[in-house]
Amino acid sequence: MSTDPYLPVRAEILSVKQETRSPDLDIKTYRLRLAQGSELDFRPGQFIELAVDGVGEAPFGFASSPLEKDFIEVTVKRTGLVTDALHRLSAGDFVWVRGPFGNTFPLGEMRGSHIMFIAGGLGLAPLRPLIKCVLHPGFRGQYGRVDMLIAARTPGDFVYYDQYDDWAKEPDTRISLTIDRPVDGWTGLVGFPHNLIADMDLAFDSTIFILCGPPLMIKAVSDRLQQKGCPKDRLITTMEMRMTCGIGKCGRCNIGHRYVCVDGPVFSLAELGEMPDEY
Ligand SMILES: Cc1cc2nc3c(=O)[nH]c(=O)nc-3n(C[C@H](O)[C@H](O)[C@H](O)COP(=O)(O)OP(=O)(O)OC[C@H]3O[C@@H](n4cnc5c(N)ncnc54)[C@H](O)[C@@H]3O)c2cc1C
Ligand code: FES
Repeated sequence: MSTDPYLPVRAEILSVKQETRSPDLDIKTYRLRLAQGSELDFRPGQFIELAVDGVGEAPFGFASSPLEKDFIEVTVKRTGLVTDALHRLSAGDFVWVRGPFGNTFPLGEMRGSHIMFIAGGLGLAPLRPLIKCVLHPGFRGQYGRVDMLIAARTPGDFVYYDQYDDWAKEPDTRISLTIDRPVDGWTGLVGFPHNLIADMDLAFDSTIFILCGPPLMIKAVSDRLQQKGCPKDRLITTMEMRMTCGIGKCGRCNIGHRYVCVDGPVFSLAELGEMPDEY
């Protein structure tokens, strides 16, 4: 990858995949191959700045595994200018990529612990590189039990729905799916994650909880976990502040004296507790 963090590298779109059963959500995964000679070594939690020619640039978390070396993936929800332009592109088109930027999930500190992933909606996207690393046969033995509670509004809104069975086949791994309201034929859980975790069979004081989703979900879940005895430094989340440069220069993403693009986007609740309440 370019050594100049301002200089993007051209990347070809290899494939585009609608990521939910229901097309209403407009969430697509883009598999990209960087221009020949460019390699991109990243770690789970980091992000790229992705530009569409003549439109602009926006940050997106990696959605693929760092162990997959021939491509990178980002999963993108259509919300505005850049994401709309991206959603109009298809395989064979080109985009521009800067990065990787930001810090990473604390893989070293997670070794030996049980891990619980709690994701709401598209919040599963930035967790996918971490999930794939933890479940990889070469690394699975380094972690305890792996639980996942994945929440979506309706059964059609689950991202990566076609991969859950493969993940659940890995040893000592459990996946629970929940939707907001009952729907005919649904056999999973119903209710918001913070109401469900209280009754789950979890070692609250010795599990590392990795949370990603809407801010209200993060707040409700982390409050409930702390009530159950989970210390704040075992609650890890990743933030999506507005960003411009991605490298700590423009001041677009700061919270107090911290830059989310450099000091984050991954933070423990203990770290967030020391920052001003601006997010
Ligand atoms: C570290 C990081 C990782 C991210 N990872 C992903 C990802 O994996 N997939 C994904 O779809 N999106 C992700 N985002 C959010 C993504 O960057 C924004 O959706 C994107 O910048 C919107 O650009 P746009 O030009 O399409 O929208 P704009 O035209 O700029 O804005 C459209 C609307 O979206 C709102 N908006 C724009 N950016 C953000 C933001 N960062 N947070 C909340 N609201 C915003 C605007 O206020 C406006 O209402 C990530 C953001 C960060 C900072
Ligand atoms: S995005 Fe420019 S300082 Fe963080």
